[in-house]
Amino acid sequence: MRKEIPVAIRIAQADDAQEILDIYAPYVTDTAITFVSALPSVEGIRKKMVEIKKGYPYLVCSMGGKVVGFAYADRYKPHEAYQRNAELAVYVQPGFHGRGIATALYTALFQILKSQGFSNLYALITLPNNASIALHKHFGFKELAIHKADGYKMGARRDVLWMVYRIDDVADSEAFRPPLRFSRLRDNEIETALRMATALLSGVR
Ligand SMILES: CC(C)(COP(=O)(O)OP(=O)(O)OC[C@H]1O[C@@H](n2cnc3c(N)ncnc32)[C@H](O)[C@@H]1OP(=O)(O)O)[C@@H](O)C(=O)NCCC(=O)NCCS
Repeated sequence: MRKEIPVAIRIAQADDAQEILDIYAPYVTDTAITFVSALPSVEGIRKKMVEIKKGYPYLVCSMGGKVVGFAYADRYKPHEAYQRNAELAVYVQPGFHGRGIATALYTALFQILKSQGFSNLYALITLPNNASIALHKHFGFKELAIHKADGYKMGARRDVLWMVYRIDDVADSEAFRPPLRFSRLRDNEIETALRMATALLSGVR
């Protein structure tokens, strides 16, 4: 009989930092997908996670007790005027690509961000990256612009595609409300989003 592997989309915890770093490290050292050039420490990942989780969701996908992907939202720009926006990050371990893991992570992430009251979500994609473009288009992101030769990494200038998705359905004329901080969101709203996203992965191994 085939054994069921437990799978879950859940909130990232401090103990996940090492496994998150294991996934992230090759993208830092071997690619221009992230413009981070210096490998962060486990403690660095943990500290950033704690900071992010005050205001935004930071999620992992765990399979058989191991983290195989993560996604989070973070501050877009420091100005108060931009507080309803967020910039996204999503990384899946190479051996687990194409199984719907990023889709499940984003499904939960977006439901939580919507509950918090966020508006514009941005993805900044170093080109080429067909997988990331397909993922973001799947979720309704639109291409805004290509910033030519915007970054320099691994011996070459890199073009960056900016994509945006308006997640709220609030009229622009409505009174402005700052988004709810993630740490203030009701547990049941988070649980519902995580359960729904985890269900998407049942049967995916
Ligand atoms: C981008 C990434 C997160 C996608 O994760 P994933 O779990 O493989 O994605 P999913 O299986 O959920 O697929 C999501 C969509 O992308 C498409 N897709 C996935 N890999 C693809 C590829 N190599 N080429 C084209 N489309 C691809 C899928 O077909 C699916 O679209 P559809 O449902 O409309 O058909 C993953 O490839 C990754 O970790 N890449 C390296 C890190 C990275 O690029 N992060 C984004 C930085 S901007």
